[in-house]
Amino acid sequence: MYTQGLDQGGRDQQAAVETAEQLAAFQKRIDAEEKIEAKDWMPEAYRRTLVRQISQHAHSEIIGMQPEGNWLTRAPSLKRKAILLAKVQDEAGHGLYLYSAAETLGVSRDQMVADLLSGKAKYSSIFNYPTLSWADIGAIGWLVDGAAIMNQIPLCRCSYGPYARAMVRVCKEESFHQRQGFDIMLNLCRGTDRQKAMAQDALNRWWWPSLMMFGPNDSESTHSAQSMAWKIKRFSNDELRQKFVDVTVQQAAFLGISVPDDDLKLDEASGHYNYGEIDWQEFIDVIAGNGPCNQQRLDKRRRAHDDGDWVREAAQAYANKQAARVAA
Ligand SMILES: [Fe+2]
Ligand SMILES: [Fe+2]
Repeated sequence: MYTQGLDQGGRDQQAAVETAEQLAAFQKRIDAEEKIEAKDWMPEAYRRTLVRQISQHAHSEIIGMQPEGNWLTRAPSLKRKAILLAKVQDEAGHGLYLYSAAETLGVSRDQMVADLLSGKAKYSSIFNYPTLSWADIGAIGWLVDGAAIMNQIPLCRCSYGPYARAMVRVCKEESFHQRQGFDIMLNLCRGTDRQKAMAQDALNRWWWPSLMMFGPNDSESTHSAQSMAWKIKRFSNDELRQKFVDVTVQQAAFLGISVPDDDLKLDEASGHYNYGEIDWQEFIDVIAGNGPCNQQRLDKRRRAHDDGDWVREAAQAYANKQAARVAA
């Protein structure tokens, strides 16, 4: 038996006592592939892990709108603009479902937003890189949404019901995002030499940060083993990264552009591609807030939040008026 304090936002500080019987019964449900629902008993550490993971995921969707939003006014045609607008709106929707899923675990949306704006909460390192050309929009859809799909398809079977169900629709939309990105790349690669060079340059800059999206190597990943036992995670970081490499290298070959990795080689025996060493120092630096765009992303998010103040105030005033009318 052990005791833990509950200190996540929205909940009062209280002591929770978890017995060995409770923990064993919980694990039995997990092992039987039962979904855990919001009001079910769960270990405090399970709840906290999910709050951390789902809120980070939500923040990533919201911050992830910025690099692509950067190209909305400069998309090369009306059709591309309409597609990109729909995609960026989908990402906002993903953020909203995910904040709602996290709220079922007893953390308030206000708290999660405050943690993002203060810089306390993390979001995916990939969104701290700049989008320098239109080809970057193709590369993001192809690689970043592609990596997101690899990560998120198994989350449709996550043991926590509200998260798993949110992921079903998110994954359908991510699949559209990946295709729109690949379609941009395909058009550029079939275009002029300059367009193809733009596509190659985008792949050069987005390849390694995309591989970092899967997180540290399994040997360095602190939360992995417990998350696997709880069936929050179904595959390890390295397994998912390998799947991504195997699929994407062949897509790059189809496009006729080359993956910027001299060590990339098909291992005939296993059927998998071996790839070079990831620059983990870069990953650590970006996560620590020192990537090329961290400051810019947070500043912009804070400004957007402040600019939305009047909307929240107006909605609150309207809700108060409605409540007063019902009470009268
Ligand atoms: Fe998304
Ligand atoms: Fe997406």
